[in-house]
Amino acid sequence: MALQLSPELRQRFQQLKQRYPSLRSALIPMLLYAQDEIGYVSDDLISYLAEELNLRRVQVEETVLYYSMLRRKPAGRFHLQVCTNVACLLRGAKPILEHVRQRCGGPPKTPTPDGIFSFEEVECLGACTGAPAMQVNYDYYENLTVPQVEQLMTQLRAGKKPAPVPHISGVQFQPHPAEVRVISRRFGLPDSTSLDTYLKHDGYQALDKALKQMTPEQIIEEVKRSNLRGRGGAGFPAGMKWSFVPKDTSKPKYIIANADESEPGTCKDRPLMELDPHQLIEGMLIAGRAVNAHQGFIYVRGEYRYVLEILERAVTEAYERAYLGKNILGSGFDFDLVVHTGAGAYECGEESALMESLEGKRGYPRIRPPFPAVVGLYGCPTVINNVETLSSVPSIILKGGEWYANLGTPKNGGTRLFCISGHVNRPGLYELPMGFPLRRMIEEVAGGMRNGKKCKAVIPGGSSVPVLTADQLDTPMDFDSVAKAGSMLGSGGVMVMDEDTCMVEVAQRIMHFYAHESCGWCIPCREGTTWLRKMLDRFHAGGRVEDIRQIGELARNMLGKTFCPLGDAAAMPTISIVDKFRDEFEEHLRSGECPSARSPAGVAH
Ligand code: FES
Repeated sequence: MALQLSPELRQRFQQLKQRYPSLRSALIPMLLYAQDEIGYVSDDLISYLAEELNLRRVQVEETVLYYSMLRRKPAGRFHLQVCTNVACLLRGAKPILEHVRQRCGGPPKTPTPDGIFSFEEVECLGACTGAPAMQVNYDYYENLTVPQVEQLMTQLRAGKKPAPVPHISGVQFQPHPAEVRVISRRFGLPDSTSLDTYLKHDGYQALDKALKQMTPEQIIEEVKRSNLRGRGGAGFPAGMKWSFVPKDTSKPKYIIANADESEPGTCKDRPLMELDPHQLIEGMLIAGRAVNAHQGFIYVRGEYRYVLEILERAVTEAYERAYLGKNILGSGFDFDLVVHTGAGAYECGEESALMESLEGKRGYPRIRPPFPAVVGLYGCPTVINNVETLSSVPSIILKGGEWYANLGTPKNGGTRLFCISGHVNRPGLYELPMGFPLRRMIEEVAGGMRNGKKCKAVIPGGSSVPVLTADQLDTPMDFDSVAKAGSMLGSGGVMVMDEDTCMVEVAQRIMHFYAHESCGWCIPCREGTTWLRKMLDRFHAGGRVEDIRQIGELARNMLGKTFCPLGDAAAMPTISIVDKFRDEFEEHLRSGECPSARSPAGVAH
C-alpha cells in the first residue's frame, strides 16, 4: 500500500527540513512523528525519508535500528511501557509488569488480538520520584499499584482515557524548610511556563544585564567565580568549559542543552523544563553571548514528549516577544533556538554521542580529543551543558558568582535539585545546598525510611555510581565529599534502599540496564556488560561460589577500558555491591533463594 501521510505531517516535515544546518538532522524527528501517525516505521516510510533527505535506504535503516522508541512493527493502540529500573523496582514494579504481561498475554511489543494493547518492559522513564511508573504511549502514570493498573486498562479498553499525571510526581510546590530555592523558585507559580509569569519573577533580567552591562569575558569569569559544576554527572566546571571555545574561528558555534535525561534515578531536568522553560532558554542565551554562538539546540529525550511541547510553546513565545531571533533586546545579538527530540537511547546522554544523534545518526560516541568545545556539532565549536547547569546561569548572572558559590561548599557552588527515591516516606525533588548531609536528606527532608525500616544502602548519584552503605550517611552531598567517600555525586539521583533490599537483585537489574543500553561500538563494553548480565542472572537464579569473584573481576577488567564512560558506569556500581555486600551473595548460595522472593512485591515491601 502506498504511503499515506496527512497534510499536517507533510507540512511538519517541510519545517523540519529547514530547521537544521544539515538535512540529515531532521531524520530522527521525522521518523518519530511519522511513527506517531502511522503506528510504526514501515518499509515505504524508510524509502520516502531516504529520498526526502538525500540518504541511502541503509542509512535510514541503521538509524532506525539503533533507537529503542522506533518500531518496525505496529504496536497496540495503547502501548504500555512499564519501568522496572531500580527506583521503580524498589517500589513494586515487578508485580505491575507481571500483571500487565498476564493481561496482555502474548510476547512483548506485540498487539493483543483485539489490537488494543501491547506492552514492554522499559528502562528509567524519568519518573523515579513517582515510582513505580508507566507510560501509555506518551502519557505518564505514576505511583501505581496493581489495582490502579487494572483500572487504567479497563478504562482504556472502554475508550475512556484517564488523565495522566499533570506534572512530575514528587515536585515540591511548598518548599521544605531545609530547601534553598534558586532554580526551582518559580515551581508552583500559577502559569509558571508562560513568559509573562517569568517576566514578573526576574525573567530575562540576567540576559539584559549580560547583553548590556557585561562583556563575554566577564560573563565567563562570573560563571567561573560561581563554582558551578556540570550537573549532568561529570561535575566539570561550567565556566572553564565555556572558556575552551576558541574566539578566533570563522566557524559557527553552537550551544546544546543536554535534556536527554535517562540516568536511572534521575528526573530533575523534567520539572525544570516542564515548570520553568524560560529559565533554561535564558541560560542558553547567556551561554551563547559568552562564547559568541548564535544557534542553540535543546535535545530532549524522546519519552518527554509533553515536555518538548511545553518547550516549543515557550520558544515560540520568546520569538514573538523578541527574546529570541535578531537583535535581542536591541543589543545587536542574534540567537536562534531549536527544540529537538531524541528517540530512546541512554548513550545519547554522552555528549559526543548526543551530537552524532543530533546530526541524524546512530548515537555512537566520538573519539576525544578533540573535545566538543573545539570540534563539536557539525565539526564546529560547541558548548554542551546539562539542563540544570544552564538553568542555574540566569541567577548567577543576576546575583553574582560569589553569592552562588557561597550557597554551597568550597569548589562546589550553589544548590542541586536532588531526586530522592526508593524506600523513603516522601520521595521527591528537593533543591538543597551543595554539601547537604545525606542523612538529613533521608531522615528530615524525605521523611525518613518507610515502615520504620533501617537504611541499608544508598546510590547517591544515579545508577552508574558506587553504592554507599548505612555507615556513610554523614557524607556531605557535594562532588568532592562524595568522591572522598568512594562514590560520585553524578546526576543527583539519590536511591535509598532499606534493610530488606536484595543487593544481588539490585546489581542484576543495574547490569540489565547497561547491557541493554551499551551501543555495542567497543568490545569491552558490549561483551563485558553482556557477560556480567548473564553471570548475575545465573547467580541470582542459584549460582556458584566462584561466580562472586568472577563477577567482581570481570567488572574490574572493564574499568577504564571502554571507549566512553558507559563501561565504567556499569562496572562501578557492580564492583561496589560485590565488595560491600559479599555476605549477601554468600547468603544466596547458602539459602538457595533470594530474600526478595519472600516479598510479594519483589525487592519492594
Ligand atoms: Fe523507573 Fe526512573 S522511572 S527508575
